[in-house]
Amino acid sequence: MAPKLKDPSLLKQDVCYVNGEWVKAKSGKTFEVFDPSTGKLIGTCPEFDAEDTKAAIKHAAAAFDTFRHKTGRERSKILRKWYDLMMENADDLATLITWENGKPTADAKGEVTYAANFFEWFSEEAPRIYGDTIPSSVPGNRVWTIKEPVGVCGLITPWNFPAAMITRKIGPALAVGCTVVAKAPGETPFTSLALAELAHRAGVPAGVVNVITALGNTPAVGQVLTTDPTVRKISFTGSTGVGKLLMKQCSSTLKKLSLELGGNAPFIVFDDADIDVAVTGAINSKFRSSGQTCVCANRLYVQAGVYDEFCRKFTEKVREFRVGNGFEQGVTHGPLIHDRAVDKVEQHVRDAEKKGAKVLLGGHKLPDLGPNFYQPTVISGMTSEMAMASEETFGPVAGLFKFETEEEVLKWANATEVGLAGYFFSRDIQRVHRVAEHLEVGMVGVNTGLISDPAAPFGGVKESGFGREGSLYGIGEYQITKMVTYGGMGQPLQK
Ligand code: SIN
Repeated sequence: MAPKLKDPSLLKQDVCYVNGEWVKAKSGKTFEVFDPSTGKLIGTCPEFDAEDTKAAIKHAAAAFDTFRHKTGRERSKILRKWYDLMMENADDLATLITWENGKPTADAKGEVTYAANFFEWFSEEAPRIYGDTIPSSVPGNRVWTIKEPVGVCGLITPWNFPAAMITRKIGPALAVGCTVVAKAPGETPFTSLALAELAHRAGVPAGVVNVITALGNTPAVGQVLTTDPTVRKISFTGSTGVGKLLMKQCSSTLKKLSLELGGNAPFIVFDDADIDVAVTGAINSKFRSSGQTCVCANRLYVQAGVYDEFCRKFTEKVREFRVGNGFEQGVTHGPLIHDRAVDKVEQHVRDAEKKGAKVLLGGHKLPDLGPNFYQPTVISGMTSEMAMASEETFGPVAGLFKFETEEEVLKWANATEVGLAGYFFSRDIQRVHRVAEHLEVGMVGVNTGLISDPAAPFGGVKESGFGREGSLYGIGEYQITKMVTYGGMGQPLQK
């Protein structure tokens, strides 16, 4: 039976939100969206094409001319109202997330709060957009800066956090006065569309937020967003491969760009760590969203002195998981998003096994539950030759590597072309500073496996991309700094 919404009007079928109205694709084409747990059809969404996308950009550009001049306080109130509506409709939003993404209801509710908090946080920043006064090096000149909204923004978001990835981009964009065309993920569009409905109810002016959908036409939509000269900024969360392509496309019009791309997070447990805290951190970091986040631990390095104890305690905790349909009571972990994701996990497990690792728990698909389910898996005896050491698994598999020295583990941890998040557990204050400074990542969790917070800057280094989301740094991504020099302002008065 299909899940029920308290407010069924939040489920938008066959329409996108453009210029304050619900519209179909001009071609009339749609694509189907399926529940990853049951494989059943949830509904259909418009297959927007290049022409539809250009129209949405035009409306966003028209809206920018007025929205940019609203006061910070006015923009703040709009975001705050949108936040309130998200919280009032949290149960329905969570239902949509579980339905189209598969994560258990409790996690989906957690995501709704996390997502809404971006609107709350940025609503509080909107009235505090300050420029600078700069002492000039030229006598008689006065220099100051104005922070201006960059313009129309193209936002491209992934399926793993159907609510939080879009609010993390829209929050700062609207706070500073930008307008947006947001391309919802093809796998999980209904949450984004429900958010658009709430935007409408919150009084977001027409054209300021446009939410469009596509599946087969995704490359064509991306091409328009990244090449249309009216779009002045692209923010993308997704794979490194797609990020590189978008960056190339953006070069023709030199757009401002934020890329939050793939990770391969090292998770290090030193001998001096509190092992129970480290086990909890590893469970949180590795198995959040069934391992489908960019900041999930991907390589768990445990120092020799505590390796056996950690393996035992960690495996016991993972054994307690219950995998199943996210709507079922007691289920702790849902399906993966599709069978291709399951195949990748399976490849990594078999590769590790073939090269000598030992599967301590799990290690197989769960066909009785459906094609998208995989057992939560723990593997010991990992080595750097195994695929999981260099590729992001994006699934519920924890590979444990044994290490001897700090120097050795830091070398391994940094031996990757990406650098999003890294975690380590230690009670030695000098080591804490040393290791935090040495890890080549954009975000470090020390004695915690959960680092995501709207108030903290989220983003990577190396091929994990650039730009920061959330926090004050996230605001700057949607602004330009205009400098104004006043000449001939005279000399200071003599006393
Ligand atoms: C991501 O997977 O890209 C985001 C994860 C988060 O916000 O915690």
